[in-house]
Amino acid sequence: MDYLNLIPRPQEVTVSEDIWFEAHRSICIKTHSTFNELIPLVTQELLSMELTVQDEPAETTIHFIQDATVAHQEGYILEITEDTITVTAATKAGGFYALQTLKQLALSKEGKNLFPGCKINDYPQFSWRGLMLDCGRNFFPVSFICKLLDLAALHKLNIFHWHLTDDQGWRLPVEKYPLLTEIGGWRIDNRTKKFSGKVGGSYTEEEIKTVVRYAADRCITVVPEIDMPGHMSSLLASYPGFGCTGGPYTVEDAFGVFDDVLCMGNKDLFSLIEDIFDSVIKLFPGKYIHIGGDECPRTRWEKCPKCQKKMEELGLTSAGQLQPWFVSKLANMLESKGKIAIGWDEVLDDADNLPSQLMVQSWRGIEGGKKGAATGHRVIMSPSTNGCYLDYRNYPDPMEMGRQYDTTTVKNSYDFSAIPEGMTAEEAEYVVGGQGNMWTEEVYYGRIAEYLLFPRLSALSEALWLAPEKKSFDSFKTRLPEHKKRLRILDVLYYDGKLE
Ligand code: ACM
Ligand code: ZN
Repeated sequence: MDYLNLIPRPQEVTVSEDIWFEAHRSICIKTHSTFNELIPLVTQELLSMELTVQDEPAETTIHFIQDATVAHQEGYILEITEDTITVTAATKAGGFYALQTLKQLALSKEGKNLFPGCKINDYPQFSWRGLMLDCGRNFFPVSFICKLLDLAALHKLNIFHWHLTDDQGWRLPVEKYPLLTEIGGWRIDNRTKKFSGKVGGSYTEEEIKTVVRYAADRCITVVPEIDMPGHMSSLLASYPGFGCTGGPYTVEDAFGVFDDVLCMGNKDLFSLIEDIFDSVIKLFPGKYIHIGGDECPRTRWEKCPKCQKKMEELGLTSAGQLQPWFVSKLANMLESKGKIAIGWDEVLDDADNLPSQLMVQSWRGIEGGKKGAATGHRVIMSPSTNGCYLDYRNYPDPMEMGRQYDTTTVKNSYDFSAIPEGMTAEEAEYVVGGQGNMWTEEVYYGRIAEYLLFPRLSALSEALWLAPEKKSFDSFKTRLPEHKKRLRILDVLYYDGKLE
């Protein structure tokens, strides 16, 4: 068994041949308070058979030890002997990842009621291990998001980037602007005409809190994205006064990039923005807020008298410079409220003086990441060209599911390196990690998302967990069949075709 068929592959595994911990005897759980919240996971998810859990001496023991000297904050040491499972970690996250390793073993055929004797020393290479789900193009219910969060946790991912607004739908409730969800949450299905009436929806505050809590229980931080100043058709359809022409606008059903964006010269612009982000801050306790910034045409700004006046006022020489002005103002506003803004790599275009705390997410290849790091911004890598766009088809076959204009093979995802070639060691320090992005223009059902996500997300999780020199696609291929069995048990629809 190659690394006990675990994905992502642990850093170090030593297997004790012919030693098994049997979970069906009486079990004593001893724990340091750091790990108290993890105990329900042990009793409900790992040991689903009838057993007696007691805190007195028993035939077998599961022992959680807090040890601040475990080198990595998210690291753990897991030791399984005939009568004891010992988890040693510095933090709750480390303990949680030990349990995810145990969960994978429990889901293995070999692991049913039995855990193999071994010692595992494990920690991640990158601190940012993300998955993005686009809930703007199509709406996904909380139940499906929770299923994905469980799967993300199983792969030791720690960021859920929740794309909440786009041209095709606005999902975030904003008290002062109720039409954002009442109008902006719904579109007419002109594209497929599969659905009669309007399609879409939005989340209630309670639902958002449920997702945030569910994620936190799994050591996952939710990063909400409100994409602006482009990709704004849903907002403009709701409040047309914030566009350059005044509308009317519609919640888009087509794909693509649209000329109508936020008017930079509107006197109420930042009052709107502040209200929107105050709603975000109220619901999302995490440090990071994604402000989008991608694919924002300047067409309207070049013609709009209000935008032209704003340019004059600011002494700008091209309409393109309005975007870095807007992004800087927004990032500084969020910083004053204790938050860190993230923008897609277009935020670097036409810009020379961005606030250094602004983080950059590279997607148009790796160049944005290189430029961001070279100019002192922390960087998240998710290049569409290097295995991170999980909406593309798995294989260049017109009968294959996924966006047809490009391909991401499982091997592409496996080969992804968050540190791009040619980056200096100093620049590499700015790279926090990477993400898989699940865009959903053509994803009408959760089942389609599952098929596109797996096993590419499994491959990507290993690319984010291990240093490049430790990766081996041959080893991954050996472990994948067992991992697919786990996915099957978890009712995940996965792609089962060619890997490269
Ligand atoms: C993007 O794919 N438009 C960030
Ligand atoms: Zn304008």
